[in-house]
Amino acid sequence: MANSLLINLLQIFLLFLSFSTHALGLLKFHVIDVHALTSKNVCSPPKDMERFRSVKPTLAIVNRHGPCSTLHSVEKSLEQILSIDQSRVDSIHRQISAISGTGKTSGPLSSSQITAQSGGSFGVGAYIVEIGIGTPSKTLTLLFDTGSSVTWTQCKPCLRFCYTQHDPIFDPSQSSTYMNVTCNSAPCNVVNNNSCSGSSCLYGVRYGDRSYTVGYYAEDTLTLTPDVIHNFRFGCGQNNNGTFGEVAGLLGLGPSSESFVSQTSDKYQRVFAYCLPALSSSTGYLNFGSNSDISNTNRTPITKQPNSGLYYYITMTGLSVAGDTLPISSTVFSNAGTIIDSGTTITQLPPDAYQALRSAFREHMTQYKMVPGISMFDTCYDFTGFDSVTIPTVGIQFLNNVSIDLVPNGILYAISSSQVCLAFASNSDPSDTGIFGNVQQKTFNVVYDIPNGEIGFSPEAC
Ligand SMILES: *[C@@H]1O[C@H](CO)[C@@H](O)[C@H](O)[C@H]1NC(C)=O
Ligand SMILES: *[C@@H]1O[C@H](CO)[C@@H](O)[C@H](O)[C@H]1NC(C)=O
Ligand SMILES: *[C@@H]1O[C@H](CO)[C@@H](O)[C@H](O)[C@H]1NC(C)=O
Ligand SMILES: *[C@@H]1O[C@H](CO)[C@@H](O)[C@H](O)[C@H]1NC(C)=O
Repeated sequence: MANSLLINLLQIFLLFLSFSTHALGLLKFHVIDVHALTSKNVCSPPKDMERFRSVKPTLAIVNRHGPCSTLHSVEKSLEQILSIDQSRVDSIHRQISAISGTGKTSGPLSSSQITAQSGGSFGVGAYIVEIGIGTPSKTLTLLFDTGSSVTWTQCKPCLRFCYTQHDPIFDPSQSSTYMNVTCNSAPCNVVNNNSCSGSSCLYGVRYGDRSYTVGYYAEDTLTLTPDVIHNFRFGCGQNNNGTFGEVAGLLGLGPSSESFVSQTSDKYQRVFAYCLPALSSSTGYLNFGSNSDISNTNRTPITKQPNSGLYYYITMTGLSVAGDTLPISSTVFSNAGTIIDSGTTITQLPPDAYQALRSAFREHMTQYKMVPGISMFDTCYDFTGFDSVTIPTVGIQFLNNVSIDLVPNGILYAISSSQVCLAFASNSDPSDTGIFGNVQQKTFNVVYDIPNGEIGFSPEAC
């Protein structure tokens, strides 16, 4: 009893030590409680309720697989989640290397009637938010995704197919403000090259793992309490299937003109910020507008690329382990380029960068027993029997001298306490685009300031 109290006090002291040296920029190692790597069974509210409530509108972000989620879909194993993640990555790479043809073929609402470029990448990310659609407003739980732009939800009468979702399926006939987007209008041209059924515009999105949604492109009132957005364009899905779990659809925050960010530019000036929680048992936030928490952030430029319409590109310039900058040539990063994506789980690095990270990390972890890898992970440890472990800090540098220090939950991914892995993956080809994924973004306030062409990071936000 007294012993465990002592150990707890010691851990609290070590945590305190790690944070205080952190503040001085001296932190080379994290001493972490092994249990802090895995989620609890109860949901905790946002860390800083005051800040959470002060900015409007603010949506709570939770992981759809955890206790903060209202969804009760069949739990996916971590291995399944990683394999879905790999299909998203492959799809992003295919899309970037071959911005190309459309998949349009047969009659209306068939799943093959989907343009390859309209939806962006594989969309089945982990984080969900609640919004309202229609008049009266109906609450819908949507995935939020900076890597795709079309917002959609399943709609009655589900002409072809709707998967099972948690919220009642949106019924356009019950909304007094619902309208179909007409064929041959500018938005219809953008979303699906004017593919239509009669006078109604059709949209379609196919994601990397063959999940898809097809239906009428529509507009209706969208509610983000306390704000109301009139005539918001979204997909009203009549044929939907895939790995969406029980979510009602997706909120597209990508850069292209049909995205939420573009459609609300008058109201929110294309500025938004989010914080992804460290654990699926904690809560983050997503807020919009120039009163988002955008102060005090290290900002790196959003870089222009041939595919800038689809993804937010930033420039990664270096990596550090235990405070030491790794010897990686800057061309390794510049040849590949990097996007930031809320929907990809694990950060994907160019092969040479990953090799350097992996070997430096392993050098500092020799006191722990290595165990076989899993999925895209090849550097895993058995922490059975340890209450706390000491791991090196990992930093990522971006253009403009922006340097961020990842939280322990952004460095390690715990399958179980006997298999805790370095949470990074290697691209197979040096020319494949790097992806700064959501595990590494955890607990940062990530600000997208599109008018100023910048993305900013500030630590310990949720
Ligand atoms: C939207 O278009 C569909 C298909 O043409 C039609 O069944 C539905 O009544 C239309 N809804 C409205 C509100 O116009
Ligand atoms: C759009 O549709 C027109 C007419 O069907 C076709 O000629 C054109 O190639 C399409 N453009 C794209 C980008 O798919
Ligand atoms: C929907 O997807 C599930 C799982 O992949 C599959 O078993 C089912 O047949 C699909 N349903 C339709 C109508 O495509
Ligand atoms: C970059 O940041 C480091 C650490 O914050 C600082 O010491 C250095 O002077 C900065 N360099 C430039 C060019 O701003």
